[in-house]
Amino acid sequence: MKKQPRSSPRSGKSNRTVSIVGTGSYTPEKVLTNADLMRMVDTSDEWITTRTGIKERRIAAKDELTSDMASKAALKALEQAEVAPKDVDLILVATATPDMLFPATACFVQKKIGAKNAACLDISAACAGFLFGIEIAQQFITSHTHNTVLVIGAEKLSSITNWTDRNTCVLFGDGAGAAVLQHRGRAHGVISTHIGSDGQFTDILFMPGGGSRCPITQENAHQNLATIHMTGKEVYKQAVISMLSASKKALELAGLTTDDIACVIPHQANLRIIEAIADRLKIPLDRFFVNLDKYGNTSAAAVAMALDEANRSGRIQRGDYVLMVVFGGGLTWASTVVEW
Ligand SMILES: CC(C)(COP(=O)(O)OP(=O)(O)OC[C@H]1O[C@@H](n2cnc3c(N)ncnc32)[C@H](O)[C@@H]1OP(=O)(O)O)[C@@H](O)C(=O)NCCC(=O)NCCS
Repeated sequence: MKKQPRSSPRSGKSNRTVSIVGTGSYTPEKVLTNADLMRMVDTSDEWITTRTGIKERRIAAKDELTSDMASKAALKALEQAEVAPKDVDLILVATATPDMLFPATACFVQKKIGAKNAACLDISAACAGFLFGIEIAQQFITSHTHNTVLVIGAEKLSSITNWTDRNTCVLFGDGAGAAVLQHRGRAHGVISTHIGSDGQFTDILFMPGGGSRCPITQENAHQNLATIHMTGKEVYKQAVISMLSASKKALELAGLTTDDIACVIPHQANLRIIEAIADRLKIPLDRFFVNLDKYGNTSAAAVAMALDEANRSGRIQRGDYVLMVVFGGGLTWASTVVEW
């Protein structure tokens, strides 16, 4: 018999179930394969595939903005949820590649989709941002301040990639994913959420230039400062540690065990990281949803895009317990258990 989660594992303060009532995603048309990258830097399909599992990634057009991709994913999610844009109360856009430092990309999305009654803000939590958004949405909905929240993860990482650095340029891609969250009086929905950060590791995954600390000037423009800088091995190690503990935390808060989970949707950064987590959690790899071979690491968009694909393909079914877990620069991590 299916195990029942704790009735209100978050804090017991509200029995308002928050449900994901629609998902959507968008990926740009242009495909960049490992073979294409071999013509740009000294790399090989074999190296990229064995170290990461990535075969290809999508690259946005020059004039295609993060807010354009976010808006397309959002409209699909709203359509599936049967919610009109004017009924959205809050738009949260998780991104490390906003259209501009301000105003928030969420404001551009608001304009593009016609969600004129929404409040809008961006979330800066790198790759973990979408699940930070789910946590924030859940808090706003359970506290009765907002009823319909649109959470979007969207990235144009190609705009901050150093295309001459083989250590990083093979890893990333562009795209967007979205979810509509509401209290609809359904029994199923978000069961537990957990977010965390460790500012001691701000120097292992970061973009040094383009902010107030180091504006891009004529003098430093050639130094690739407004691109992703990463210490790969340390990031790998911390990713495994934090995603493992975040997974356990969300399960504990939900009162569930790994055996109860029908599908794990992890951050889509690297297949070896996913394999290491599967091994340590003792969950068979075939219960993990993986699409990073097609899209690479799309940061805040990754889990949102994977959730939409798992939903629309029927990989997750009504009543399934789904664990989502992410990790990103900051460091940041987050996990969520949802009864689908
Ligand atoms: C990036 C990553 C795949 C590199 O794998 P690794 O096994 O740690 O590889 P190393 O960095 O030790 O590099 C090994 C060698 O491969 C080389 N190399 C790096 N990138 C390469 C590429 N694209 N093609 C070919 N060789 C490459 C290195 O220069 C190094 O060569 P050297 O030994 O001659 O110096 C791995 O560290 C990783 O996945 N880290 C986490 C990244 C991540 O998930 N970031 C986003 C988090 S949200």
